[in-house]
Amino acid sequence: MSQPIGIFDSGIGGLTVASAIKKVLPQESIIYFGDTAHVPYGDKSRELISHYAVRITDFLLKEKNCKAIVIACNTASAAAYEKLRDQYKGSIPVINVIDPMIEEVIADESVKHVGIIATKTTIASGVYQEKFSRRKPQLKFSAMATPLLAQMIEEGFYNNNISDAVLKEYLGDPMLRDIDGLVLACTHYPLIKKEIDAYFEGRVKIFDSAEVVANKLRIILEKEGLLQIESSKEDHFYVSDYTKSFEIATRIFFQQQVKLERSGIWDEGL
Ligand code: DGL
Repeated sequence: MSQPIGIFDSGIGGLTVASAIKKVLPQESIIYFGDTAHVPYGDKSRELISHYAVRITDFLLKEKNCKAIVIACNTASAAAYEKLRDQYKGSIPVINVIDPMIEEVIADESVKHVGIIATKTTIASGVYQEKFSRRKPQLKFSAMATPLLAQMIEEGFYNNNISDAVLKEYLGDPMLRDIDGLVLACTHYPLIKKEIDAYFEGRVKIFDSAEVVANKLRIILEKEGLLQIESSKEDHFYVSDYTKSFEIATRIFFQQQVKLERSGIWDEGL
């Protein structure tokens, strides 16, 4: 099917997921939407995030004719996935970044105590905690909000002294002392995966959702008969507020610089 895949995030962090999707499904075209006018989502209420997510999904489906939606943001997945899934049930697949990760972790018998690091809203939603305790009651988990990380990464602070110090402070928390697995429950965090791995000196298995979600999307598109067979048209990357610094930062998340286009979905009254 030649329609594009719609992917959205609060900003440009979700480009880590978009990049994994392009690797797993190179023949597909994508429409990415980064809600840069409202980033960060991580400290906003679930109600407000859900309101944003519904409007963005509407844009991707009605204006851009997407055949599937990927919520490439843990915070938006925690706040709005159920609402979107119920709204589009039976018409288009809506994929979140949390459920494929839950499956991945619970299938790993080597993990007995998993840490979860994410934004405040994701942790406060209790979604990971609820799903882990329901799906695998014997799995111990420790969930911790790490609000500085997404901002730090977006400002280009990773693999340096500042990120080292911030990570040391968070990861040294006694709560994470005896974990053997760690879920990077924010789509910004793949950028600091190596640093986190180095901090734990390889003792902790690090789970990052980008690849897991891309593989899950491939399975769903295949099952629904929605896979694109021939190489398709070009990709588009929209943001709700354009600044040059967002465009420059796309390189770190997508592994190549992309041209951002501004979409005026929130422009009414401007
Ligand atoms: N990338 C978002 C996530 O996965 C977090 C960034 C934000 O706070 O907007 O949760």
